[in-house]
This record gives sequence, C-alpha cells and structure tokens, in this order.
Amino acid sequence: MEIVIQPTPEAASLIAAHIIANLVRDKPDCVLGLATGSTPLPMYRELARMHREDGLDFSRVTTFNLDEYVGLPPEHPQSYHAFMHEHLFRHIDAAPERIHIPNGMAADVPAECARYEAAIRAAGGIDLQVLGIGTDGHIGFNERSSSLASRTRIKTLTEQTRRDNARFFGRPENVPLHVITMGVGSIMDTRQVLLLAFGENKARAVAEAVEGPITAMNPASILQMHAVAKALLDEPAASKLALGDYYRWVFANKPQWQRFVRGR
Ligand code: GLP
Repeated sequence: MEIVIQPTPEAASLIAAHIIANLVRDKPDCVLGLATGSTPLPMYRELARMHREDGLDFSRVTTFNLDEYVGLPPEHPQSYHAFMHEHLFRHIDAAPERIHIPNGMAADVPAECARYEAAIRAAGGIDLQVLGIGTDGHIGFNERSSSLASRTRIKTLTEQTRRDNARFFGRPENVPLHVITMGVGSIMDTRQVLLLAFGENKARAVAEAVEGPITAMNPASILQMHAVAKALLDEPAASKLALGDYYRWVFANKPQWQRFVRGR
C-alpha cells in the first residue's frame, strides 16, 4: 500500500481530489466508487470547487456508492442518498441516471444486492474507489469478521458503529440496525483505491490495516493485497504507524512524474 501522510485533512483531501480530477480528465466516462461519512467531505468540497471554477466535467461519469441504511427512504436526511446529494451531487453536473446508491427501501434485499453487483459489472467495473475507515477498521459497512471475499449484501451494524454514527441520529437507538453494503470482495475488484483517514481516533485502525496481519478483524487490512491502493492520512491518523518516517521519506523523494498534483 502507498502511504501518504499530510499535515492536515485539507492537504490530504486536496491530493485525493486531484487524483480524481486527473482520472476524470483522462477518462471522462470513468466509474467512481464513492463513500459517505465526515472524512470525504473536504475532498467533495474541493471537487465541487473544481467543477464550479475550473469546469471539471462530471457529465459522463458514473458513480456507485458503497452503502445505504435499510429502511431509510432517499429523502430521509440521514440516508446516504440525501448525504450524497447534499455534499456532492447538487454541486456538480453528474447525470442522475448514472448515479447509483443501494436502495435501502427494496422489498427484496438479496435481489437489490444482486442488481447492484450486476450494475457495477455492466458499467465496466469501478475505476477508483474512495474509502473511509471505521474506528475498528471497517470499510463501507463491512464490519469486523466480514468475509474478505464478500459481495454486496445486508449487514447488521455493531454497537460500536451505531454509537459512532449516533451523532447524526440523535441517539444510538435511532441508528438503523441493518444496511446494504458493497462487499470486501466488491471493493477488492476496483482498479484503484483511495483510503482516507483523519484524526487520532483512526490511528489504531490505520496502523493495523497498513502494518498488521491481513485479518477479517480489520477488514481494511485486505487492502494490502490490492495492487493500487493509497492511504491518504493526516498526522494524527498516522501517529501509530511503525514506519511513518519511511512513508514521509518516500513521499518527499517522489520523482516529479509520479506526483499527484498536476495541472491539465
Ligand atoms: C460509516 C460509513 C463508512 C465510513 C465510516 C467512518 O460506517 N459506512 O463508509 O468510512 O462511517 O465515518 P467517518 O468518516 O465519519 O469517520
């Protein structure tokens, strides 16, 4: 895995936004895998700015979101449909028919999961997947002990994840129990992964994911087996990495052609 440590979330998010912008310019009909949570927000703000001020064109891009709560309609303010509309889609020119988010209201959940996997395949697979990470190492809503080969399916949230997400729902009891999430295997099929993690409360999960053994007890650790995975971290999230100085050294000595932030 390539580890990039930046002083602030904003600096790391700027790099992430540039990587995505470069992909969108090189391949205007690319397929992006998108994530929710507070972590990608500065990156989405920068992508919105690039659209507004630099004319970055998302009109041919296809998107697939990682997950959605079961039982929340799209108009529910805490649904991931509402989140994505509020923080990204209403600010850019993505075509509504090319935006995909699991349907948490589906009457037949397994059929919805199969449909979602088929839609990803029909779009040609995901070129770049954005990921956050839970405090316990979960990615998407693939909780600890998830099969590392799993596909899109229903999951039951842990107490920990419901507590972590309670800030959006008022109380932990209001957080839905069930979700639909792309599987760990679905994420591993994507061509490139950008994992974003900010803050001291992610440091242990990040250190285990990057430097620990590959284990379903930290689902993000499977990214060690992904051929093109970058972790973009701020200093606090990187604080428990054993090889932090090495990763900073590698980044400082990147050849010019390998730098992420380039103009048009
Ligand atoms: C939820 C989401 C994940 C996200 C995680 C961390 O569980 N399903 O995709 O990575 O929360 O959220 P945050 O970025 O707010 O810390």
